[in-house]
Amino acid sequence: MTARLAVFASGAGSNLEALLTRLGPPARARPVPAEVALVVSNRASAGALAIAGRHGVPTSVLAAPSDGRSLLALLAQHRIDFIALAGYLKQIPAPVTETWGGRIVNVHPALLPAFGGPGMYGPRVHQAVIAAGVRVSGVTVHFVDAVYDNGPIIAQWPVPVRSDDTPTALAERVLRVEHRLYPAVVEAVASGAVTLGPDGRVHGHVFDASGTATFSLQSEGQSP
Ligand code: GRF
Repeated sequence: MTARLAVFASGAGSNLEALLTRLGPPARARPVPAEVALVVSNRASAGALAIAGRHGVPTSVLAAPSDGRSLLALLAQHRIDFIALAGYLKQIPAPVTETWGGRIVNVHPALLPAFGGPGMYGPRVHQAVIAAGVRVSGVTVHFVDAVYDNGPIIAQWPVPVRSDDTPTALAERVLRVEHRLYPAVVEAVASGAVTLGPDGRVHGHVFDASGTATFSLQSEGQSP
């Protein structure tokens, strides 16, 4: 059975595009563990909604993003099985995080728990990374709980920080890795290869059984 995925996005939607490229809209030709069946936003002007439209994926703009009851009703109406947050800037209401544990994931453009939490999104994340003088940033994909950027981490990937990096240059390098890592994690969670156990810990592997990554750093334009 192909799981039905809802992608929540407030911005440009490049991660949505990456998910659609890997998983596709409903009724995709090749068998996939999940398909993007709905795109949700809190902003009618979000670029992600136009991307969804081009792929024939239904969309919904939330009039009240903090209203858990209406959000649960929307998810039921579209028979949604999993949620992927992709640059969604609103908190998921507690009635949803409390009942959807293990079925909501988020991608963050830094190595949590560092450089995360309320207000840490967009250029601010990369400005903070550069200001801190760290030499490695990266991408984190985690299960979503009631606390912002806090849920159990599923996968991370390092991205080198260059001494002459601007926030924009670093953001672009991190985003290229997001577009590779996030779809792989979403597919692994949707297929059941990775789960959130009753112990609150992540079980299973995103990559091959040996646990090593299946895409190379060089392919991300990152010279070693
Ligand atoms: C990404 O950097 C993601 O990590 C963060 O918000 C940004 C969304 O970008 N949560 P896009 O809208 O997917 O292009």
